Amino acid sequence: MMSKIFDRVSEATAARGMIGLRGPKPDPTVIAARMAARQRGWELGLPGYADLSGRCPPPIIAVGGGKGGVGKSLVSANLAVKLAASGWRVLAIDMDIGGANLHTYFGLPTPTRGLADVVVYGRSSLADVMVHTNATGVSLVAGGNEEVWGGAAAMDQAAMARLFDSFIEVREKDLADIVLLDLGAGTHGLTLDCYLAAHLGILTVLPEPTSIENAYLFLKTALFRLVRNVGDQLKQEDIALIVRDLLVEPDKARKSGYGDHLRLIGAKYPDFIASLRSAIQSRTLGIAVNQVRSQKDIDVGKSMELIAERYFGFNCRSCGYLNYDEAAWKSLRNRRLLVVDFPHSVLSKRFSELSRQVLSNLGF
Ligand SMILES: Nc1ncnc2c1ncn2[C@@H]1O[C@H](COP(=O)(O)OP(=O)(O)OP(=O)(O)O)[C@@H](O)[C@H]1O
Ligand SMILES: [Mg+2]
Repeated sequence: MMSKIFDRVSEATAARGMIGLRGPKPDPTVIAARMAARQRGWELGLPGYADLSGRCPPPIIAVGGGKGGVGKSLVSANLAVKLAASGWRVLAIDMDIGGANLHTYFGLPTPTRGLADVVVYGRSSLADVMVHTNATGVSLVAGGNEEVWGGAAAMDQAAMARLFDSFIEVREKDLADIVLLDLGAGTHGLTLDCYLAAHLGILTVLPEPTSIENAYLFLKTALFRLVRNVGDQLKQEDIALIVRDLLVEPDKARKSGYGDHLRLIGAKYPDFIASLRSAIQSRTLGIAVNQVRSQKDIDVGKSMELIAERYFGFNCRSCGYLNYDEAAWKSLRNRRLLVVDFPHSVLSKRFSELSRQVLSNLGF
């Protein structure tokens, strides 16, 4: 089943990926109105400890991918710069707890203060710990190493609640127009919740079997986490458990996808599934295939889009592809941003295209 879906590349998907130039950045009131329109569905997909009571965040982009070393930080840093070049003020937050290195992509030394001061210790506000980068319009909140975070247990529910509060702070204090989260590898609950907090969740994938496998696992765990979050938000944890159990069945039968199965379950639990659909529809998933060397590699991205949409039932849009380019490691070695160090490289041009697609996928 999976390989069949992989093999089918839809023309419609391909056409949708060819998104044209975007206009100038909309007025802040337009941005706020578009975010408000998604607020209910967005909140429904958040973990139970994120009590926002209708408070609206700025647009949030997360850059994830189940696997380590697939280019999440490279994409986060350079996408932030390209978005800023279109007039959007971007706050990049390093969410790779314990393995944070986004500051290195910006050529910054290891920062003395960062996200842990806000969410774990509650002794700083986001405004206190954000630093300006050399790229105009891009600010950074650094992550930190294992000692700074005080171990995995430090990220308890209170800490996570402070993280969600800090997203709101960005809008309320007008710190930036867009929040961009650079996620760690794997399918840790924190990583999934941050991915699901995003209005646009970019899934970075390499055209290699191991990366595709991890991306598939990431999509599956994200969907299951979403079901759980909707259950928490509605205080219907029991129904969420039943729905999760029913969803496991396609794995056994391998006949239909989770999307199809949700339709069937919908007849039994119409209210819950309607809320789940609303949570799904208010967040967009974008596949970005990285280190592309051939048309076959590009097609992997298109196949993944089909799987994300048809098999998993996500609201999926193309985030295009990024070429393999030696400029990536050369710029990193120089501790400079790729799009600044090698502005005329093919990869830099692909980042311009990615930025346009990201804005389009966010609805701007
Ligand atoms: N398109 C590309 N062309 C060439 N090299 C690339 C490309 N994308 C990423 N790389 C290289 O791959 C390595 C890993 O990239 P990066 O640090 O962005 O991965 P990551 O997904 O953030 O990893 P981690 O999970 O460890 O945080 C870097 O050395 C980077 O230069
Ligand atoms: Mg990284």
